[in-house]
Amino acid sequence: VLTVDPSSLGPEVSSLLYGIFFEDINHAVDGGLYAEMIRNRSFEHQDPVEGWFAVFESDCKATFSIETDRPLNKNNTKYLSFEIQSDDKLISLSNDGYDGIPLKKGERYLFSVFVRSDEEYNGEIKVMLANAKGEPEAEKNLGTAFSSEWEKYSVELQPNEGLDDGRLIITMKGSGKISFDMVSLFPEENWNGMRIDLLEMLEELKPAFVRFPGGCLVEGDSLENAYRWKDTIGPIEERKTNYNLWGYHQSYGIGFYEYLLLSEHLGAEPIPIFNAGMSCQVRGAEYCPMDEMDEWVRNVLDFIEFANGPSDSLWGSKRSELGHPEPFNIKYIGIGNENWGTEYHDRFPLFRQAVKEKYPEITIIFSGPPSYEGASFNRAWRWARSNGIEILDEHMYAVPEWMLRNTDRYDKYDRSGPKVMLGEYAAHAAGTRNTLQAAIAEAALMTGLERNSDIVIMAAYAPLFNREGWSQWTPDLIWFDNTRVYGTPSYHVQKLFNDNTGNVIISSSLTDEDIEIIGYWFKSLYHVCSYDFESKELIIKIVNPWPEEKKLRIEIGEEVQVTGKAEMISITSDNIFDENTFQNPDKVRPKTVGMSNLSNEFTLTFSGNSVTVLRLETT
Ligand code: AHR
Repeated sequence: VLTVDPSSLGPEVSSLLYGIFFEDINHAVDGGLYAEMIRNRSFEHQDPVEGWFAVFESDCKATFSIETDRPLNKNNTKYLSFEIQSDDKLISLSNDGYDGIPLKKGERYLFSVFVRSDEEYNGEIKVMLANAKGEPEAEKNLGTAFSSEWEKYSVELQPNEGLDDGRLIITMKGSGKISFDMVSLFPEENWNGMRIDLLEMLEELKPAFVRFPGGCLVEGDSLENAYRWKDTIGPIEERKTNYNLWGYHQSYGIGFYEYLLLSEHLGAEPIPIFNAGMSCQVRGAEYCPMDEMDEWVRNVLDFIEFANGPSDSLWGSKRSELGHPEPFNIKYIGIGNENWGTEYHDRFPLFRQAVKEKYPEITIIFSGPPSYEGASFNRAWRWARSNGIEILDEHMYAVPEWMLRNTDRYDKYDRSGPKVMLGEYAAHAAGTRNTLQAAIAEAALMTGLERNSDIVIMAAYAPLFNREGWSQWTPDLIWFDNTRVYGTPSYHVQKLFNDNTGNVIISSSLTDEDIEIIGYWFKSLYHVCSYDFESKELIIKIVNPWPEEKKLRIEIGEEVQVTGKAEMISITSDNIFDENTFQNPDKVRPKTVGMSNLSNEFTLTFSGNSVTVLRLETT
């Protein structure tokens, strides 16, 4: 029996409870949300010709090289040059993006490139969208005379046919020296440079916050490639690209300004995370000397001014120039990611003091260590408690069984201490696959998050995206390739919970006995109840992690009257190891049924391996 007692109200459900965590891992951004179709457009990758192929007609006398002597600007140091002696031979330079460039018939693609001709280049340059054999589907002339200074050329291309495996090809027939940089191709259909289908997946989640831009990415392998937000704003050709800790190069086409725009668009609270003056500790940290910490502290202060400052302030004016004169009014910042120990505890106060002095209204999130239990975790909490930390960022990657056994973890947290942002979590089932089993364990854990959302005020699954074939980490919430995208069972659980939070927790208790398996105790069902004042609905979430269906008697106290009308939304599948795939993206997804004739007491059957939300209309 589940007893629901509407006379006993728990905490209000945190309005920030379910958010997203954004990090450019698994090509979430470059090759993902960022709609740029050219890989390595500015020849700045570790391998400067990654993604590029040059083909010379036979007997063509020409060489090509990566040069640095007269760059486009100081941040964009490398470019590609051809020196050509034969003026009647064809040279083609092609890029196949990520697994080929997908092209839609009739869609307009915006091509742009910076070109410079040092030793007068005589001849024509064309640009085309072609198939893998080089046969053009759209073609334009770029010109025949080019300046000896860098000049930008832009053309629109509209393919006659759709292609999964397209190429961008630049052809040259002429002689002289010609150089290229920032070779770019965008579908006309994009939102602030973002891919629409992936953006829609985020819109549907309706996240309450966006934590960005990482993760370990913020920390860097060393401080040299740590994330510096100032490199990520302004004209894209002037952004200083960076080799990221996940092993690939980032264009920073989506930088801090775009993350702020994205958060605003999603109606989500931006939670920017800043490097704490130390690189990734798990990989053997580099620590910025204490007397040189000013760079890192300034980095944070300047960002707050960029986001919130008036248009006539130094950094606020830059935001204004980018097209957003109104401040973003950010309220939170995080200092560090998965940092711990004396080195972190020494550096954190420098940030706190500087930020609170200038911006006392900003809440500062303290980083927890990578572990979610054990000695260093306990030490971090002790330090946080005795140093007046406002919010501590916990991360939890755990096996499903652990999550099922720890749904009451936050019931025991000290209410007078720091709040928790569970900034990253996911159930890691066997093979780290995105199975229904993992999603069910997360749902069970989330019943505990919701019940305790006076203390756990924010939580986000991690990582968010995975580009198939280009990933460094599984499981992930959303999988995509060039043209397809699907939500994993975990995605549907996140959405289901977030769509059905309610405003206040209602006490509920289960009389069914706990289940013991080889000395470990599990609940027979996991549950949380809340009330939505606007729709006057009682919301009951039930998670059944067991293979057999469960009959449950639900008894609701008389403080509310159930009208009889209800909706039941369930996520389940035949097998607990089922997962969604590109071939079968909807294998595991929510199904909604309407119900009638319910009263304050009724019995329902919950399928095996299921997550269910009941919305009961009340008076
Ligand atoms: O989410 C992937 C990584 O997991 C994050 O970058 C890091 O914070 C954690 O270790």
